[in-house]
Amino acid sequence: MRHIVDAIFNDSPRVHQGETETRRVISPSESILPEAALQSLAAGEPVCWGIAKEAGLFLYDAIKPGWRTLETGAGLSTLVFALARARHIAVTPNPGEVTAIKNYAAAKGIGLGSVRFVVAKSEEYLPRAKPTPLDCVLIDGKHAFPWPMLDWFYTAGRLRKGGLLALDDLALPAVDVLRRFLDGDERWRARERFADKTAVYVKTSDTVHDVAWHMQRFGPAAPA
Ligand SMILES: C[S@@+](CC[C@H](N)C(=O)[O-])C[C@H]1O[C@@H](n2cnc3c(N)ncnc32)[C@H](O)[C@@H]1O
Repeated sequence: MRHIVDAIFNDSPRVHQGETETRRVISPSESILPEAALQSLAAGEPVCWGIAKEAGLFLYDAIKPGWRTLETGAGLSTLVFALARARHIAVTPNPGEVTAIKNYAAAKGIGLGSVRFVVAKSEEYLPRAKPTPLDCVLIDGKHAFPWPMLDWFYTAGRLRKGGLLALDDLALPAVDVLRRFLDGDERWRARERFADKTAVYVKTSDTVHDVAWHMQRFGPAAPA
């Protein structure tokens, strides 16, 4: 199966399309993206915004069959969770993406029987999701501030002690804020880092939300 994971990343199937973080027309003055990129997004041209191959192979090797896993966003990573035989939930608001992932999986003979696609925005689905325990979470959905933190907030408590948390697209500012918090927080241990793209942490504590601000080593030093 590992060779199939490898092949997926060599294929880089274009399962993503359009801007799903907001569905309205974006004027060039609102975005730092070049106009050509905005036009391509508006046209819904198929692209691949997948995690990197190294991160995909790491997740495939780390995830055990039957693990309960969840990701915000969907794509190549969803296929990795499926191949690792996790009981997986992928949350994305884009139904076209789900169809593209299913079509690619069918063409390659990749079974998606253990994957549940939730077609919803993570900020709407996660707060009302059943708080069942999770063994691994990938945060790779909406990257605007504060969505990575929201996705983390609503999944971190569900992650079991010893479970894995992966963050993708570290170069984006909102993801970087979360990374800096996790790097300094004793309830998480950095496990792997894939260049400036992906970080994986192990949860080292039973609880992460039973805490006061002065117990978190984040931000300025304690007052003298
Ligand atoms: C960078 S892509 C994910 C790539 C995926 N992990 C892979 O390996 O192919 C970002 C994803 O976030 C999804 N997304 C956008 N807004 C979202 C939201 N509010 N909640 C959940 N997912 C969202 C997009 O539709 C897309 O699937």
